[in-house]
Amino acid sequence: MNYNELISRLFVISGEDCEFEARIFIECFTDFEYSYVLYNRDVDLKSDKLLSALQKREARIPLQYIVGKWDFYRQTYKVNENCLIPRSDTEILVDKALELLPLNAYFLDLCTGSGCIAISTLCERADTSAVMVDKFEKTLEVAKENAVLNKVENRVEPMLFDVLCDEKTLEGYTFDAILSNPPYIRPEVIETLSEEVKKEPYAALYGGDNGIIFYNKIVASYSKFLKKDGFFLFEIGYDQAEDLRRIAKENGFECQIFKDYGNNDRVAYLTK
Ligand SMILES: C[S@@+](CC[C@H](N)C(=O)[O-])C[C@H]1O[C@@H](n2cnc3c(N)ncnc32)[C@H](O)[C@@H]1O
Repeated sequence: MNYNELISRLFVISGEDCEFEARIFIECFTDFEYSYVLYNRDVDLKSDKLLSALQKREARIPLQYIVGKWDFYRQTYKVNENCLIPRSDTEILVDKALELLPLNAYFLDLCTGSGCIAISTLCERADTSAVMVDKFEKTLEVAKENAVLNKVENRVEPMLFDVLCDEKTLEGYTFDAILSNPPYIRPEVIETLSEEVKKEPYAALYGGDNGIIFYNKIVASYSKFLKKDGFFLFEIGYDQAEDLRRIAKENGFECQIFKDYGNNDRVAYLTK
C-alpha cells in the first residue's frame, strides 16, 4: 500500500482528518519518516502493522485506542478501551485548577478515567498531591499506569469506589479542591454520537437520564470533604451551566462558569 491508497481508505472513515490520521499511522506503524513518504507517494509502505491498524480504524475503532497513547496538556497518556480518551476540551479545567489551587494543595479527582486531570495537574504543580477515584478496576489500572508513566505515583493515591454511593470511603480526608469531569451525557444524546465515541465506555458517558446525577450527588455529598475555603471545579456540557447554577444554589454555593477556547460553557467553579 502507498500513501495515496492509505489516504483514500482513511478518507472514507475520517473525512478531512485523513491526512492527520495518515501521518500518525505512518509514524506509529511503519519504518518510514512521514516527510519522506509525502515526497515519495508511490513508495510501498510494506507494513503488516499498518494494515492491521487500518482494518481496526475501518471498524471505527478510535485512532487513539489503536495507537494506545494520546497527548493531553503537556503529558502523554496510555489509553485503551477501558478509559475515556482525554479531550482537549478538558485542558481548560486543568488550567483553572493550576490557577486556583493554593500552595501545597491536596485535591480530589472524582471519576478520574485515564487520570489525565489529576496527573497533568500534579505534573505542572510539584507542590500538590491528590487522590484519584474511579469505579472500575480496569480503568483505575490505566490511571495508575499513567501516574507511573508521568512520574507522579508518589503524590497520588488511587481509590476504587462508586462515587454515587460510597463517599464514606473518604471519611477522615479533607481537600483544598474537588475536581471532576464526570459522565454528563443524556442517553438520547449518546445515541447521536459518532461510532468512535460509542466505542468508549458507556459508563464514562452516561450521566443519568437528565445528565446531571453526578453533579447533584457530588455537590450534595462531597462538600463535607472540602476545607473551609475549598472549591469544586467541574467540567460541564455546553448546555449545563443553568443546571450547575441551580445545583450550586440549592447547596449553598456560588457558581462561576468559564468558557472553553471554542467559546462554549465548559467549567463550573463552585465556592462557598
Ligand atoms: C467522562 S469520564 C472522565 C475521565 C477523565 N476524568 C477525563 O477527563 O478524561 C468519567 C469517568 O467516570 C467513571 N465513572 C463512571 N461511573 C462512576 C461511578 N459511579 N463512580 C466512580 N467513577 C465512575 C468512568 O469510569 C470514567 O472513567
